[in-house]
Parts: sequence; C-alpha cells; structure tokens
Amino acid sequence: MESAKEKLKQEAHLLIFPFPLQGHINTMLRLADALSFAGGLRISFLNTDHNHRLLSFFSPSQYSRFSLRSKFRFLSIPDGLPDDKPRSVNQVIELVISLRTRSMDSFRELLLASGERDPDGWPPVTCFIVDGAMPFFMDTAQALGIPAIVFRTISASSLWVYLHIPHMIEAGELPFSGDADLDEPIKSVPAMESFLRRRDLPSICRQATKAEDEVLQLFANISASATRSKGLILNTSNCLEAPILSQTHSLFPITYAVGPLHSLVESITSSSVSASLLAEDRSVLIWLDAQPDRSVAYVSFGSLAQLTGEEFLEFRHGFVNSGHRFLWVVRPDLVAGGTAAVEMVESEERVRLVAWAPQEEVLRHRAVGCFITHSGWNSTVESAATGVPMVCWPRAWDQLVNSRLVGEVWKVGLDMKDVCRRELVERMVRAAMEGEKAVELRHVAAEMAVEIGRSVGEGGDSRLDFERLVRDILSLSL
Ligand code: UDX
Repeated sequence: MESAKEKLKQEAHLLIFPFPLQGHINTMLRLADALSFAGGLRISFLNTDHNHRLLSFFSPSQYSRFSLRSKFRFLSIPDGLPDDKPRSVNQVIELVISLRTRSMDSFRELLLASGERDPDGWPPVTCFIVDGAMPFFMDTAQALGIPAIVFRTISASSLWVYLHIPHMIEAGELPFSGDADLDEPIKSVPAMESFLRRRDLPSICRQATKAEDEVLQLFANISASATRSKGLILNTSNCLEAPILSQTHSLFPITYAVGPLHSLVESITSSSVSASLLAEDRSVLIWLDAQPDRSVAYVSFGSLAQLTGEEFLEFRHGFVNSGHRFLWVVRPDLVAGGTAAVEMVESEERVRLVAWAPQEEVLRHRAVGCFITHSGWNSTVESAATGVPMVCWPRAWDQLVNSRLVGEVWKVGLDMKDVCRRELVERMVRAAMEGEKAVELRHVAAEMAVEIGRSVGEGGDSRLDFERLVRDILSLSL
C-alpha cells in the first residue's frame, strides 16, 4: 500500500509570490483564495518579511482565516531593505533591485528546501505563480525544473501598450518632446488606434527622452518575459477587454482572464478578501449608513500615489464647491510634505476623511454615488463590478491607460487626467453625481456590472478560464 509519505510527495503544491505592494498582494491573495476553494492543491503564499508583519498585524481576521486552512500557509523571505526604510512610491525601483539581488538566495533556498527539508513536512513545490513584475524569480524556479505561470496585475490594455514600446519607437511615435501635442493619436498599437493618444500612454513614455531610455526598455522587457512562462493570468474579463484579449492571444496563447478576482472570489466563496497593509477604519460604513442614497462621492488615490499640497487643496475646493458629501481616503503619506492642507479639510462638514477604508464594501454601499479614483487597475475593476461611475485622475504608470478605457471605451466615467483645477473638479463631480450625464453613466455602469456578474458566475467566461487554470496547474504538477 502507498505510504502516507509517498502520497504527500505526489500532491500538487502551488507557490504564489506577489510583488510586495498593496495592489499586488490584494489581487494575488484573492486568486489564492479562489484556488484554495477549488481543492486538490496545497498553497504556499509568499510575502516579504516586511509585508508579512504588516498583513498579520493590520488584517488579523483575514490572516487567521487563511492560516486556519490545513492546505494553506504563509511564508516570507527578506526583501533586502533595512526594516525602518519606507517602501512607498519613491522606493519602487530600489525595491525591485533589492529583490533581484538580495532576495534571490533566500528564494532559491526556499525552493530547494521544499520537500525533504520542508519545516511543515509539505511536499516539493510543483508549480509557481509569479508576479510578472518580478520575472527573475520565474527564471530561478524554471531553472530548478518548476513550471511557472505569470500573473500580471495590470489591465490587458496596459500590458498591450507596454509590449508595443519597441513598435512605437520604430514608428517614431516614441519618445516625444516635452512640448509635444499630447492629444496626438498613437497609431502603432493595434486595436487601440481609435482612442489611444500620447496623453494616455503610461507615464514612463512621457518621461523618456531617448529611444534607449532604460526604464522604457525595462518595462518592455518585463512585459515580454511572460512569453517564457507556461501561461499568463490576468485580472480581467472578456466583458471588459475582449478586443485586446483577442490580440494578446497572439503572444500568449495560454491566457487565463479570470477577473475581476474580487467578484470571482465572492461568487465562489460568498465572502471577500481584503489584505490590507494599513488598518481599515470600518466606522466609515456606519457614517455611510446615515447618508442618503447615492449622495456620497468616494475619493481614493490608491496605496501609492501622492499629491502636492496645492493639488490637494484644488480637490478640496472643488469638492466643497460642488455641495456634495465626500468620503476621502487620506493615507498618512498621501500629501507630500503637507499636514496643514489636510488639517484644513478635517473641519469641513460634508467631508469625512479616513486613513484607509474597506474599499470593496464602501463601493457596494447604497450611499456611494461616484468614485473619484487614480485609476489603479484594482480600483477600476472594483468600481466597474459595483456599477459605480468613476471620475478618473490617474497619476502614473498603467493608470493613464486605464482611465482612457473608463472614459472613452467603456463610457462608465469621466477622465480628467492631467488637470486638477478646482472648477474642473467641481464640474466633474457634478456631472458624475447629478443631472442627465450622471443618469447615463449610472445606466452604462450598471449594465457593465451585470455583465461582470455573469462572467464570474457558473458557466461565465472568467469562471471557465479559472476552472481551466485549476486543471492546468494540476496537470503541470504531475
Ligand atoms: C498599483 C497600480 O496603479 C495598479 O494599476 C496595479 O495593478 C497595482 O499597483 P495601487 O496604486 O495601489 O496599485 O492601486 P489599485 O490597483 O487600485 O489598488 C489599491 C487597492 O487598495 C485596491 O484593491 C483597493 O480596494 C485597496 N484600498 C484602497 C483599500 O482597501 N482601502 C483604501 O482606503 C484604498
């Protein structure tokens, strides 16, 4: 008879490793949750030591919910930066370099120890889902014979644009000078010719001054590296990005469009996952309960974006002048060098400030009428899934592409990128909250939310891709 040890050896063991930032951890933990419910898999979820501490401290209920499962565990390795160093927007590149150089030995040791020397007696890792922002870990795992699947947390559209950096350079569309007309269309990104402008390209394209720009090349190479994997997972759905997904298939024939993951998780498990690295202030839900239907504009610029004191005040004046109520996420590091501006807003009657909100629940609340967002991909799909119209003020990277999708392609929001004057803020808020335009936006957004619900439900596109992913992980693990 087969011994228990031999049986354990044959079990599929999936390792999941997100890039160590809030938006990435949230999405990949949602994927891990759905996979854990699918059964047949042991899952090790790898964080950096720094984020592991934050997650267990600030999200204890989520943390213990996962830790109680016999076939799920959290692991961690150092990110190589000193403990007291901030890991915010200005340190992202430093973090990547540190992970690539200083964390690699711990990662390799973790893979080599899995199986015979595993501290919990778990079987060897048989499959690896790696965040595509860190392809070097994929290379290490594959060199040890472990098949890897890449997860990109950005939209298919943003990925498609990054992949076309070399084409834009060849066509003379990149780089462009600082005084170039930003409304000029971009023609060398297939399937986007009708709506993509210079203005909508990821921020690194505006910043580049020469074709050999290192950051441009880095983003293009990181995006292309997913072709070396066994497949590509995206937090999107056919109902959101079908025309682009049909294009990306040419490069990534094995793509799993399993999103929006928070909706998929909800559909499969009837609960939600929120892996916050900051303490969630749930009292805002009580405050929302006391507000009339669709009377509150929810404002959040995600986990990394920063505003100058001047920008913050322009928003403040625009909000106050609109006469609406606001629930505004003001992280401790949101306003670069400016507590005075924040203190001024704290005394406003109709504005409720919060350091970190339970965003998914806020967006689902009946009192929320629109979402003023930086267009991070998670925030975008979370809003789309609840049918809440958006006012987009993207700050950087992929967000500039996402806001164009929202405003021009899906037509579920308004894109105010590049400008935040108080008059415009007021006009945008009014348009999203009152009058004919608001009714139209709400109508289209509600239809999109229904499509998303179908997609993640039994037999829907995202659900079928998810089921295919589970089957493929199991067969790669044989
Ligand atoms: C960044 C990129 O902009 C994004 O496009 C990429 O996919 C991941 O990295 P971030 O800027 O943090 O992410 O934005 P976003 O993708 O929107 O993620 C923020 C997450 O934090 C969301 O899941 C949101 O629900 C959560 N959040 C935000 C909270 O839980 N509470 C808050 O108060 C604010």
